[in-house]
Amino acid sequence: MHEWRALFLLWAVVEATQDCPKPCTCQSLETMGLWVDCTSRGLTSLPTLPARTRHLLLANNSLHEVPPGAFDHLPQLQILDVTQNPWHCDCRLTYLRLWLEDRAPEALHHVLCASPGPATAHPLGHLTGYELGNCGWQLQASWASPGIWWDMALVIVATVSLGLLTGLLCTISRPHH
Ligand SMILES: *[C@@H]1O[C@H](CO)[C@@H](O)[C@H](O)[C@H]1NC(C)=O
Repeated sequence: MHEWRALFLLWAVVEATQDCPKPCTCQSLETMGLWVDCTSRGLTSLPTLPARTRHLLLANNSLHEVPPGAFDHLPQLQILDVTQNPWHCDCRLTYLRLWLEDRAPEALHHVLCASPGPATAHPLGHLTGYELGNCGWQLQASWASPGIWWDMALVIVATVSLGLLTGLLCTISRPHH
């Protein structure tokens, strides 16, 4: 039995280290997935993370931002520690904020912003959408600016489509003799 156990441990270590990001340490979790510890590594950007990452510790680094979608390829990710980083809390941090809001809302109170000015020392979770900014997604403006012409074009397209649809339905439902 000892051999098997040793073999399993060896396998776990090899599995854990083969795709571990360089500055971090990794360990296989009994529950499958990987425990990735990148605490206090002086990171200024996210390392390339293995798809099996389940626990990700990024505390005490020099991270300013998380690129939108950064964790989308990590379906198992459950625990994320991003405290003690100089977060730049503008619209680009919305992804991180929403990710935490969904999976670990209480953590949002401990993630402090370092910049920009008005957000300094505020927890990320306390900023409103307006304070984070909207990255120029001006949904309302882009719909409103072409104004009446856009509306008219929609009405015309709708009318023509309805006409075509009615014609089609009449053709189909007309009995063939
Ligand atoms: C944070 O990381 C630095 C190295 O980047 C280290 O010197 C320091 O002790 C760490 N602080 C804590 C609280 O872990």
